[in-house]
Order: sequence, then structure tokens, then C-alpha cells
Amino acid sequence: MKILAVGDIVGKSGMEKLKQRLKVIISEQNIDFTIVNGENAASGKGLRQKEYQDILSCGADIITMGNHIYYRKEMASEYAKLDRLLIPANITNLNGNGSKIVEKNNTKFGVINLIGKVGINEIAPDASISPFKAAKEEIKKLKENGAQYIFVDFHAEATAEKIAMGYYLQDDVNLVFGTHTHVATADEQILDSGMAYITDIGMTGPKNSVLGLKKEIALKRFITGERARYECSDNEAMFNAIVVEFDDTTKKAVNITRINER
Ligand SMILES: [Fe+2]
Ligand SMILES: [Fe+2]
Repeated sequence: MKILAVGDIVGKSGMEKLKQRLKVIISEQNIDFTIVNGENAASGKGLRQKEYQDILSCGADIITMGNHIYYRKEMASEYAKLDRLLIPANITNLNGNGSKIVEKNNTKFGVINLIGKVGINEIAPDASISPFKAAKEEIKKLKENGAQYIFVDFHAEATAEKIAMGYYLQDDVNLVFGTHTHVATADEQILDSGMAYITDIGMTGPKNSVLGLKKEIALKRFITGERARYECSDNEAMFNAIVVEFDDTTKKAVNITRINER
């Protein structure tokens, strides 16, 4: 079984890159199930119906989100209606699914989306439940409903919080990967239990930018302290993702590989 997880799609160029590359990679690498983080797909901020449909058309089986769920006010009442969308399970003031089972090729794939608390709480203050506690609750639900695999997108800032989550869930799920920082980490690994882990899978977004934002504006803010308005860069995008392969019998990971197309 082979799984593809794609890092935060940022803006128009990120969407373009996804359109160019996702189906090709799915086909070339014989991918069985694809997760895409779409929290920055709409001009860097959130996701609208259009990006939701477009990401699914590119070949995603499920779309995960993060702190940017708050940007598109008109979407607040829509999240729960979108069949293939997850919002962090530990955010409690918005309606939406924090986990879900998608059945594909006779396999029940469970996916969970969580948001961290450390260093991100100020931009997602309504994550009132601990992501650790929420994770266990969602895992219980998915297992009761027959999930054969469980994958977790932990959308968080702090490396320590993500690593801790990896160890906490290693006997319960098949893969924990991080999103949100937009910078891929080089710590992809298989833990003792057979669970695959990486702290962050990076972004599919503009090159020569500061996390997807125009670098001139980001520099101005840092150097002068002025509050210049952030704008999403429209530079051509890089493509960041991971491919994880599992043994079909034991469900243990046998390989985790980063994709970094620049
Ligand atoms: Fe993001
Ligand atoms: Fe984020």
C-alpha cells in the first residue's frame, strides 16, 4: 500500500503545480491514497469551494486544513458539508469533520487532522481540546468504524510537540506527519512500532518567497518593524510531499521518502 501526503498548497502557483504534478506522481508511483493539505490554497489564506473541487480533481482523496480555516468567513458554515474535507479535530468553535474514513479499493483509510498548541495557539485560539486527547478520541472512533489504516496530519509549529505526538500515537496509527511550517524537515523515519513519522512535509508553494509570501514584504516587516500587508507570491511553486509504503499484511511502514521538486 502506498500513500502520498502533499504539503500545504500555497496560492495560485501552488494550485498550478498540483495540477501539473499530482496525477503524474500518483500514476508513476502507483499511489493508493492521497492526502493534500489545502489550508493556504486560496491566495495563501484558507480554501474556498473552488479550490476544494480543484484539489479533488487533481487526484486527492482527502483534504486537510489548519489554522487558516478562520480566513474565509463564508466557508465556516460549509466545512461540515464537504465530504472529503477535514478540519482540526480539536478546534471546537467551527463545525466540520476532524476525522473520516474513506473507503477505496476495498480498504478503509482513516485520516485525522489535529492542530498544535505550542506557538500556534495565538492564531488558532479555539483549539480548546488538547490535540493529544483529541487524537485518542478520533482513533477510537475510526477503529470502531473499521479503519484498516490511520494517518494523522498534525498541523503544528513546534518540532517538540510534533515529535512527542509521533511517539504518543506510534502504537495506534500508521503514519503521523506534520504540516504548517512550510519547511520540510529531514527526519523522516519509521519508529519501533512500524509507524512512519516526519515532523513537517513542507509546502507546495512559491519558490523565492518567505513561506509562500512575497519576500520583499516579509523582509520589510522584519527589517523595519512596519506592519506591511502580506501578499502571496506568484512565483513558480516547488512541490513538497512524502510517499509512504506499507506492508499489506502487517500494516507496518516499510519506507518513507520525501519528494522535493524545485
Ligand atoms: Fe500552511
Ligand atoms: Fe498553518
